[in-house]
Amino acid sequence: MTLNLKNNHLLSASVLGTGSYVPDRIMTNADLEKMVETNDEWIRTRTGIRERRIAAPHETTSDMAAAAAQTALENAGITAEELSMIICATVTPDMFFPNTACFVQTKIGATQAICFDVSAACSGFLYAMEIARQFIATGAHKTILVIGADKLSSIVNWEDRNTCVLFGDGAGAAILQHREGARGIITTPMGSDGRLADILYTPGGGSAAPITAENVHEKLSTIRMNGRETYKQAVKAMVESSQAALRQAGVTIDQVKCIIPHQANLRIIEAIADRLEVSLDKFHINLDRYGNTSAAAVAIAFDEAARQQRFQRGDLVLLVVFGGGLTWASSLLEW
Ligand code: ACO
Repeated sequence: MTLNLKNNHLLSASVLGTGSYVPDRIMTNADLEKMVETNDEWIRTRTGIRERRIAAPHETTSDMAAAAAQTALENAGITAEELSMIICATVTPDMFFPNTACFVQTKIGATQAICFDVSAACSGFLYAMEIARQFIATGAHKTILVIGADKLSSIVNWEDRNTCVLFGDGAGAAILQHREGARGIITTPMGSDGRLADILYTPGGGSAAPITAENVHEKLSTIRMNGRETYKQAVKAMVESSQAALRQAGVTIDQVKCIIPHQANLRIIEAIADRLEVSLDKFHINLDRYGNTSAAAVAIAFDEAARQQRFQRGDLVLLVVFGGGLTWASSLLEW
């Protein structure tokens, strides 16, 4: 691929269109009461979650990703053949390989695209957006589909009340392209801290603890989480990352029209609002209906907020995420 650097200037990357998909099946807190020792009141007051969507057994991450991608293509008004790259952020790929983006490519007919996945847990969508932005900035790629998709129900331990009440399934997508005269994505500060890997992870299923009868029996391929520590780290990282984005862009939080946070827990979002000294009304929140859908969460919320016209062309939007790894990022963009 030849570089097309315009007068040695980097090109900006704007969001051309967004899309999302959630499965039909709704699992309410009352449904969970029949599965583990919990209750609606506990889940609602500790997390803000009322219900979540659960994919059908045959429904894969790439099925959901392709559905979200299809709506993003329609929203952007382009065809799948115009895509030169597909990046799918997920921690629940259809299989170890081929990558999930390749399955999406076939399902939507994006014959010209190169495809790969990104693994950064709940932060994956913003990591993928930033990778896409770099390719667009140099002119190496023109039109890139970025997806956040996860079927967390496939790695949840449905006997562990500490975790199973928190998660759901879904996919969100965005199409990035340079738009003349627009700033697009202005800055994306990112961070990682592998020292805290074990506060939120799935220990088994990979090369460290391969799938054996014994490991399956121990449920090693399901999510383990230290809730308190995750909560603490999530608030700290998302506050600091948001502040870094504002600082780097030279704007104040008052100039931001809408904040799209990772949808893990209402109390986490309230704590962020408090520390950024901004009204909760500025945040787009949908975790009451979908729970935490990992890489999909911020992408679905972004699509929903865009469709509800919570921001107009030229408005500043701040996306901010946190996930296992640890990983975190925020992205300040001009819509
Ligand atoms: N129903 C009823 N009781 C429960 C449940 C449940 N589903 N889950 C835990 N409890 C119990 C615990 O066993 C504990 O009982 P004990 O005091 O008898 O031992 C009690 O409730 C309190 O548990 P805590 O963990 O102290 O509760 P806390 O107020 O910290 O809330 C929660 C737990 C909601 C998990 C919180 O810590 C949290 O939100 N952490 C962030 C985790 C998160 O959002 N993870 C998502 C991943 S982040 C990302 O997306 C990458």
